[in-house]
Amino acid sequence: MTDNDAAAVQLSIEDGVAVITVNNPPVNAISQAVRQGLVDAMKIVTTDAAIKAAVIRGAGKVFIAGADVREFGKPPMEPFLPEVVTTIEATDKPVAAAIHGVALGGGFEIALGCHCRVMSPNARVGFPEVNLGIIPGAGGTQRLPRLCGVEKAADLVTSGRQVGAKEAMEAGLIDVIAESEDDLLSAAKRLALSKVKSPLRRISEMSVPAPAAADFFTTEKAKITRAARGQHSPVRALEAVEAAATLPFAEGMKRERAIFQELRASDQAKALRHVFFGERAVSKVPGLENARPRKLDKLAVIGGGTMGAGIAVACLRAGFPVVMIEADAAALDRGKGNVDKNLEGFVSRGRLTADAKDEHLGRLALSLDYGALKDADLVIEAVFEDMEVKKTVFGKLDAAMKPGAVLATNTSYLDINAIAAATTRPGDVIGLHFFSPAFVMRLLEIVRPARTSDDVVATGFELAKKLGKVGVLSGVCDGFIGNRILAKTRKQADYMIEDGALPWDVDKAMEAFGMPMGPFRVMDLAGLDIAWAQRKRTVATRDPKERYVEIADRICEQGWFGQKTGRGWYVYEAGKPVPNPEVEKIILAESARKGIARRTIPAQEIQDRILYAMINEGARIVDEGIAARPLDVDMVKVFGYGFPRWRGGPLCTVDIIGLPKVLDGIRAFARDDPLFWKPSALLERLVAEGKTFADLNT
Ligand code: CAA
Ligand code: NAI
Repeated sequence: MTDNDAAAVQLSIEDGVAVITVNNPPVNAISQAVRQGLVDAMKIVTTDAAIKAAVIRGAGKVFIAGADVREFGKPPMEPFLPEVVTTIEATDKPVAAAIHGVALGGGFEIALGCHCRVMSPNARVGFPEVNLGIIPGAGGTQRLPRLCGVEKAADLVTSGRQVGAKEAMEAGLIDVIAESEDDLLSAAKRLALSKVKSPLRRISEMSVPAPAAADFFTTEKAKITRAARGQHSPVRALEAVEAAATLPFAEGMKRERAIFQELRASDQAKALRHVFFGERAVSKVPGLENARPRKLDKLAVIGGGTMGAGIAVACLRAGFPVVMIEADAAALDRGKGNVDKNLEGFVSRGRLTADAKDEHLGRLALSLDYGALKDADLVIEAVFEDMEVKKTVFGKLDAAMKPGAVLATNTSYLDINAIAAATTRPGDVIGLHFFSPAFVMRLLEIVRPARTSDDVVATGFELAKKLGKVGVLSGVCDGFIGNRILAKTRKQADYMIEDGALPWDVDKAMEAFGMPMGPFRVMDLAGLDIAWAQRKRTVATRDPKERYVEIADRICEQGWFGQKTGRGWYVYEAGKPVPNPEVEKIILAESARKGIARRTIPAQEIQDRILYAMINEGARIVDEGIAARPLDVDMVKVFGYGFPRWRGGPLCTVDIIGLPKVLDGIRAFARDDPLFWKPSALLERLVAEGKTFADLNT
């Protein structure tokens, strides 16, 4: 414990108050040195007669962001956090927490170990542990209910939601909101000194108020279990809060610690840590370390349909001025209407005020004239998925855009090298593949054609960051990373319904796997007509050896395109999907026509076929260098396709279940269908070498 600038915890004495500063950049994560430093600081506070009270605060941009997630996979080192918090709480001089930025997880637990808390007005507190597959492990679940009641505590601990100063004050989590961040330290000192002569409030000594409803924990458990879709941590967090309500503090602490330790070692926690670091690692592309983004002040979109309008809204929400270009006046009007409708959705959900909506619309310029693009730094084309239309548009963009501007296409499948070749500046052309709705979905595939320069790729990542999205780099191939994998899993889903399953069996199995919606419900949502048109377009180039399932064509021939026509695989009555009985007849007729003896396909086999198809194609994508690392494939599936976070993505899942098992499974499926189930060479190589996909992430 020193006051030298490099120490993880520093102590200085100001006006009789020990100012204890946690200094572990970038986010003051609670490393072993921080824990030891806090214990040592408390010793000084207790023994130094010149100290009347203490304040704990964080250096830099946050108070404390929680335990050091990087230490989780390693053997724990003393002193452990619960002891640190207990030591702070047991101190016989008042200790105040001065919270700025965030106090999360273990950081919030340290604040709850203090006798009082001050927050700066824009700070946040919370327990995000459930998102890492664990629960608070240093008394958070035991102290919080004592402070704010079990209902609020259960809400915060099971959701991982972070709350601002106002809500924290109303819930009794803090004592004071400082006037400003600048005033925080003096407010904390004043608060701590004001407690010198009064009995100290130790939260562990308080009692837990009973919940208002006697059956609170039973109903809450059912609700949380449903919402968690297979993830364990939220339900276990509730169990810990219940322990606080039913056991003495010391016993509750033991229960919390036991659950924490059990979960910390779990596969789910491992997968969720992979997503936590993967989300941050995707933008650190090997080889692009020195690339600097180009200027990004003014944006433009071409096309105001589903995607163009959605992308415009995402950009407006991030504060950019946006120019929208359409083909004719009527389409431009529709484009504006689409933007308006999307923004209105935010207003009706209480996430945007009417004034802010007007301000957003004020930043949208509409034009039919490409001359309006002359100041734009980056343009995103989202016109019809047709190569000739795209080439014409890119020719016009080439003529209109200033030198150095980035020319991006949102194409789903088309060859971006060919689009780039329609310009005189292929080095400035890139794919920015958004997902619908573009103002909601976090994934942005940044697709790099052969001649794109590094700083254009860096600009793609910069845009992703500014839009709050997870940018993942992909090479050019049919469907890029995400839709290329999707095409394989869709094929398996098609084969299975022809072989014996029904669409709702497939959906149920995949929802039990943890997907928010099964593949057939997703198709109904997206519209069956788009894929039908694509199939008709590619009929001539289809591999005649490949098995082709016609069931979806039969459905589309009825004019059933999914939710938009009220009928698809399902019938939508009052918006709720009910299996379409006609679909079953069509499926049985198609199986019979092809002479297929239908068989029951167990849920486990459905899950394996879809998962193994994802893994196999994902491995090929890595092997071909389309994805830089396995983690890039995982982040695409997690952030763009609803793959359960707690499974970490397909290539994290295969590491957990074992590569040999999956390879054996693929080989077994290959006995019936060798064309589809050709094992990826990378998967075979990793199995032969006894390695995992994680080995390729580092
Ligand atoms: N442990 C280790 N490293 C962490 C970390 C943590 N808890 N939190 C953030 N980091 C690292 C990030 O990996 C990143 O590192 P790189 O620069 O090398 O990529 C760096 O800190 C900056 O993080 P962000 O890019 O996320 O920065 P930001 O400014 O956007 O956000 C933040 C800052 C709000 C603190 C955000 O990082 C965050 O939410 N962190 C996670 C907090 C969390 O989950 N805490 C709970 C931990 S579990 C726990 O505490 C259990 C317990 O009871 C003991
Ligand atoms: P859409 O049909 O809803 O919108 C296309 C818009 O482009 C129309 O408003 C049309 O008037 C306009 N347009 C056509 N030619 C134009 C031209 N020459 N100049 C200016 N505007 C023109 O189509 P959608 O769904 O928005 O798709 C657009 C692009 O985004 C396609 O390339 C598609 O593959 C891709 N995409 C679509 C996704 C989706 O879920 N719909 C997801 C990701 C990408």
